[in-house]
Amino acid sequence: MPREPKNYDHLIGKIKGLSENQLKAHFTLYQGYVKKLNEIEQKLASVDKSTPNYSYNEYSELKRREPVAYNGTFLHEYYFDNIGGDGSPAPENFKQTISGAFGSWDNWIADVKAAAGSAHGWVLTCYGYADQKVRNVLVQSEHHVGLLADTQIIVAIDCWEHAYFMDYGTKKPDYIAAILAGLNWKTIGARFHHTPPPGK
Ligand SMILES: [Fe+2]
Repeated sequence: MPREPKNYDHLIGKIKGLSENQLKAHFTLYQGYVKKLNEIEQKLASVDKSTPNYSYNEYSELKRREPVAYNGTFLHEYYFDNIGGDGSPAPENFKQTISGAFGSWDNWIADVKAAAGSAHGWVLTCYGYADQKVRNVLVQSEHHVGLLADTQIIVAIDCWEHAYFMDYGTKKPDYIAAILAGLNWKTIGARFHHTPPPGK
């Protein structure tokens, strides 16, 4: 069964600082990743696997590009799912864990902003099952480059230019401020509840 893109039209008009045109363009781009993921999976089901090759082979190339379409699909869903909040503050237990990991809540905010200024891709706040630490992660160049093994994404912020350039031009810090002000803590809190607290 081909995957259907999720409908995020409910976000239109709900996010202070992101216009309808900006969001609709972003939805279209996300839908393109879903389409490519379906296409790659469909071709992998029947492609010849007898002559794989590092330089070029149809199977090899499909496998190399599969993570791009996969993460392009699901990182966008993480992002769209965790924006559009009602402006309520972050849950206390989340703030405590983040403060423990980064020294303070403000340090986490400062690190997100610094990471966003360093990335042309994704900034992800992740819990690492391997070392039981929360950290901010940069994923850039491709949607799969930099994603750490065995981590749960808790907060996803799209820092590719297509996410904000229509509304903000080069004023990326203003876009990050708008996203941070409108995070959906209900969604983020649910993700957070599925991770053990650091140090356990
Ligand atoms: Fe995006």
